Amino acid sequence: MPSTPSTEAGLGGAGSTSIVAASISFLGSYWFVLLPALFVTRLLYRRYAMPMSKYPGPALASVSRLWKVISTASGRTNLQHIDLHRKYGPIVRIAPNEQDQVLRRVPPPENPDIFTEVREHVHAQKKKVANVPYSMAAMQQLSPFIDESIELFMSKLDGFATSSQSATKGRVDLGAWLHYFAFDVLGEVAFGRKFGFLEEGRDVEGAIKTIDDSQWYNGIIGQIPEFDHLFRRNPLRKYIPGMSTGNALVTRLALAEMDRRQPFTKDNMGKNRVGDGRQDLLASLIQGHLKDPSKFSEGDVFAVAHGAIFAGSDSTASTMQSFFWHALADARVRRILFEEIRAAVAEGRVPIDGNLSWVESQSLSYFQACLKEAMRVRPAVGLNITRVVPPRAWSLMVNFTLLAQSSL
Ligand code: HEM
Repeated sequence: MPSTPSTEAGLGGAGSTSIVAASISFLGSYWFVLLPALFVTRLLYRRYAMPMSKYPGPALASVSRLWKVISTASGRTNLQHIDLHRKYGPIVRIAPNEQDQVLRRVPPPENPDIFTEVREHVHAQKKKVANVPYSMAAMQQLSPFIDESIELFMSKLDGFATSSQSATKGRVDLGAWLHYFAFDVLGEVAFGRKFGFLEEGRDVEGAIKTIDDSQWYNGIIGQIPEFDHLFRRNPLRKYIPGMSTGNALVTRLALAEMDRRQPFTKDNMGKNRVGDGRQDLLASLIQGHLKDPSKFSEGDVFAVAHGAIFAGSDSTASTMQSFFWHALADARVRRILFEEIRAAVAEGRVPIDGNLSWVESQSLSYFQACLKEAMRVRPAVGLNITRVVPPRAWSLMVNFTLLAQSSL
């Protein structure tokens, strides 16, 4: 008797069920052979068959991202990169396929900020608003408030220098104080208020440590972004004692300062209603938001203002630390710097006391060179900043190689 369509479908279903069952049973019986075979095939593919395979580099890097993790965790990755280039030349393979991995990175996907946004047009929209408070004119308008922080910092240092009876006995951790100074200056620039680091002479609420810890985590997990889901983005995290994150000082201050300026209206232009009416970074961003909320949301206002503290405090502090460490450790550099300053004072190019303006500081060419050198020998951002390479990446790479070779 001819079978009905439904009977055929039933037979087909039974057939495919038996194939699935046979596959599961095969996998179950031979997993101990199949898994290592898969692993080895993957290693061989990565080592020899990926587009990056033709480039030289450490053997571990050609098969796994572990090289980047170890290098980042060592805290010497910038130096190791220089060594690799000395050894292998202008292009070095530091991961099986940087391009693939970077495309999967992009944290946080649900709300990328100006640092993590990879859609060029969206980044450009945000950047247009975010650029305004960084202009030279905006910074110069804020310089009186920065001067106040400089004076407070100097008075603290003077206090240490003169009070040998104090608890510090004339000794001071200049690196830590430079960090406090950077934080307070950024508070003034971003939110129109100091965070209180200089006043209290300590890492208020562990804000510096929180940022340091988060940079340590970002640096390492940024090399293996999939693991972020296991740790920071793990939904179970809040149930594990000690692993839930309360709002850090900077986050709370940013949120509180935004609240204080609510409602955002065109009459107060995002400025603090009870403050000195200054045009700080937050006010500029709120104005950008008021101009076109669809292109620059309230979330963007928070992200850029908050991001400035994260991005600016550590980088500025570490640059100043590098400058002072190198200048103070080398008698010759110190001597030339002092000579240059004395000559500039004698010629009336810089004032004998008080703070220097940006323009005045430009006439101190040795000082400017020292600042640049401080950033070169000890870069504030020590990790390589990986880019999302556009389509046709490989031809770009090849062109770059040829260019580099022909120019050597
Ligand atoms: C010496 C001090 C600083 C150093 C060495 C430094 C270094 C850097 C580097 C290397 C980048 C990445 C650039 C790129 O992707 O090509 C960056 C981006 C950025 N920095 Fe800084 N920075 C410093 C100070 C600051 C300060 C004080 C602020 C804010 C007040 C700031 C805010 C930003 C922002 C918003 C970005 C993202 C720009 C974008 O993606 O378009 N930085 N910085």
